Amino acid sequence: MSTSPAAPASPTERELNEFRSRFPILARRNYLNSCSLGALSHDAEARLDDFRELWHTMGASAWYEHWLGRLDELRAKAGAIHGAATEETAILPSTSAALSVVADAVPTAGRNRVVCSELDFPTLAYQWRVKPEIELVVVPSDDGIGVSLDRFEEAVDERTLFVATSHVCYSTGYVQDVAGIGEIARRAGAWSIIDGYQAAGQIAVDVEALGVDVYTSGPLKWLCGGPGLAWLFVRADRIAEMKPRFTSWFAARDQFDFRLDAFEFRDDARRFELGTPALPTVHTALGGIEALESFGLDRVQARIRALTARLVEGCREAGFSLRTHPDPERRSGIVMIAHDDPAEAVRRLDARDIVVDHRPGHVRVSPHAYNTEAEVDEVVAALAGMYT
Ligand SMILES: Cc1ncc(COP(=O)(O)O)c(C=O)c1O
Repeated sequence: MSTSPAAPASPTERELNEFRSRFPILARRNYLNSCSLGALSHDAEARLDDFRELWHTMGASAWYEHWLGRLDELRAKAGAIHGAATEETAILPSTSAALSVVADAVPTAGRNRVVCSELDFPTLAYQWRVKPEIELVVVPSDDGIGVSLDRFEEAVDERTLFVATSHVCYSTGYVQDVAGIGEIARRAGAWSIIDGYQAAGQIAVDVEALGVDVYTSGPLKWLCGGPGLAWLFVRADRIAEMKPRFTSWFAARDQFDFRLDAFEFRDDARRFELGTPALPTVHTALGGIEALESFGLDRVQARIRALTARLVEGCREAGFSLRTHPDPERRSGIVMIAHDDPAEAVRRLDARDIVVDHRPGHVRVSPHAYNTEAEVDEVVAALAGMYT
């Protein structure tokens, strides 16, 4: 299990206000739903304005002079914040697309089992559910919050091709022991694939240190970069043995030779790319990350931990039942509060300008670093008020 990083210095009120002023929604609403969609920043808008302006003034020639460079910039930036090299980083249209490319790219070596967990986001399991030749094993959660390493250990054997699971569980905020899961896969000769969509930005991610083969994530949620693309990180020493069966001209070594009589994959992770990426999102992703970096990613993560602890504490004091792990090391900024009618609760909170979400049986609250302690207290008080 990882140890907590040393706490970075807390922001001053001025620093926090400056950070908050980058996200216009915060002046209008109490926005506590960043695990669905991170807030739009002025930084992301400024990047989008650059893109729009070049489109107006240069048209297609902006591709060669600017936009291919933005793709390189985003691969390098995404790699850096996930502990991966630029050469290990690819831009894909979505997590689902990234997973489906990988699912068909590895030699099976006679193996036909894929192991995931019941707390994973469905799209992860669907990649193999649709393949009749694959036996999909869904590892159960004993407490409904997380999955123990023992459960993975029991399920993984010499028939296992992939262990595919989440870094942070979308429905409980549970932070899995990814290094441990990668080790279990490696010992059995299986590939490890981790869906880090709910981890990127809110907890520290170091793909190299985690020792997994493949990791996916994206800018949409905690990185405040908007919808329209995802990232795929593949360990350098694994790339050459992977031959995607879905491909594109972006994957070709000689992309701009336009030859039909030959195809060779690129040597780096761009061999997994599936065509022209969504340029608006390339820009908003760069801007979203810049907004967070202006505050400091380590401070962002420390603040999410602190606000989550306050939220959990407030909920307990109010007598709510939570589906959230008690150990701060194993939980993240997704707090599930049991509720008889969560959809109605979310509607009533929305009417009071408090934006949260719901999943079956629970109200889901996800504070980001740009939220305040008062905003966290407000949602607890508002929920408590509904019972009186
Ligand atoms: C853990 C996780 N994985 C994947 C996705 C989405 O996948 P895709 O990019 O294919 O829409 C989500 C949420 O929207 C998620 O929470």
